[in-house]
Amino acid sequence: MRLVIVGSQWGDEGKGKVTDFLGQQADVVVRSQGGNNAGHTILIGKEKFALQTIPSGIFNPHIMNVLANGMVINPKEALKELNGLISRNVKDFKLYISNRAHVIMPYHILLDGAYEELKGSHKIGTTKKGIGPCYADKVNRIGIRMGDLVDEEGFLEVLKQTLPLKNRELKMLGQEELDLMTIYNEYKEYGKILKPYVCDTSLLLEEAIKEDKNILFEGAQGSMLCLDHGSYPYVTSSSPTAASVPLNTGIAPKYIDHCVGICKAYTTRVGEGPFPTELHNELGDLIRERGHEYGTVTHRARRVGYLDLVVVNYAKRISGIDSLALMLFDVLTGIDELKICVSYNLDGKEIKTIPATLKEYEKCVPNYITLKAWHEDITKARTFEELPEEAKVYINTIEKYTGINVDIISVGPERNETIIRRQIFKK
Ligand code: IMP
Repeated sequence: MRLVIVGSQWGDEGKGKVTDFLGQQADVVVRSQGGNNAGHTILIGKEKFALQTIPSGIFNPHIMNVLANGMVINPKEALKELNGLISRNVKDFKLYISNRAHVIMPYHILLDGAYEELKGSHKIGTTKKGIGPCYADKVNRIGIRMGDLVDEEGFLEVLKQTLPLKNRELKMLGQEELDLMTIYNEYKEYGKILKPYVCDTSLLLEEAIKEDKNILFEGAQGSMLCLDHGSYPYVTSSSPTAASVPLNTGIAPKYIDHCVGICKAYTTRVGEGPFPTELHNELGDLIRERGHEYGTVTHRARRVGYLDLVVVNYAKRISGIDSLALMLFDVLTGIDELKICVSYNLDGKEIKTIPATLKEYEKCVPNYITLKAWHEDITKARTFEELPEEAKVYINTIEKYTGINVDIISVGPERNETIIRRQIFKK
């Protein structure tokens, strides 16, 4: 079976926990897009691991972990992450990196920072990891790919062609130009270490499909950060949707069997851009503290708001979400007035989708339904029936307004603090 996990909001929905959980059934775990702008926190026993580039199947020696062609990889940071895992005794793993994945170079990081500064009050609020400039080079056909990096001579050739162009751009933006041989000497070493992992991962996936292996495509970011369908320009530079998975991994679209949308019980976003249900009050602060809503990558405080089902329904439409996993549900315990946004008002008209323009989206006012709170501790619940009545109503309301079954409910950070209503991923 081939299962795709997508974030149904603005990222940070708790995909790491679900990926880790469903990953128990997987033979292959694949990251298809983004880079080290993503941050997955995984709790194994009492140990907390923060992954940015490496797929979360890395902790299981039987799982093949794939960084596919749609990714942008910072080799220095990826190695740091790997070495960090090795130093914590995660040594027995299978890792494969696509030779077509693009390499985040030092100039991408400098350019990310420089463009943000230049944009001033219109800045995107990027993670400053060089993601956008790296994807821009890919589209502009001046990118460097992993296959180039691990070929010592070839790498020098591409760098000789690319660096003068990038140095011009850096100079134009008031940045220092970079020295060819300094970069070459540093990065060719990364290439040497990473070479054993680099291959044509699309062929590996083809084999895995032929052998009917269980493949989990773990999502990064969220649907509203999609370059095409998200709250443009306040988005990331790739598409974190189910539709992007075949393109970004080199498998045919027909092989995707099921899509799980990960949905926080409320909404958060990092960085700038419209957020209709945002809470600028004590309740927002309370949820932020309870939910530890601080970025794994940048440690920025996340913006917090009520659950927005217009957003979730939009994600459902563009990715074809078959099941929802409701995350951080326990965070809402004891909150007196629970609201769920079910539509927006735009210029006096009710709408149920996301407008394309920033101008219109900024004008949208949420229409809420208000629900009763529950006060009982729900972290020990392991079945839906064990939940308090009000909590059941919250979930039933989500199902009613989205038409998607909430198949997984997370009632705490631990792997076992989860209610499974349907086994999605079968061996
Ligand atoms: P970039 O991906 O670094 O270019 O950042 C673009 C926007 O996407 C910013 O608002 C970031 O905060 C946001 N973003 C990127 N990756 C993530 C993520 O993994 N979770 C949440 N937000 C993200």
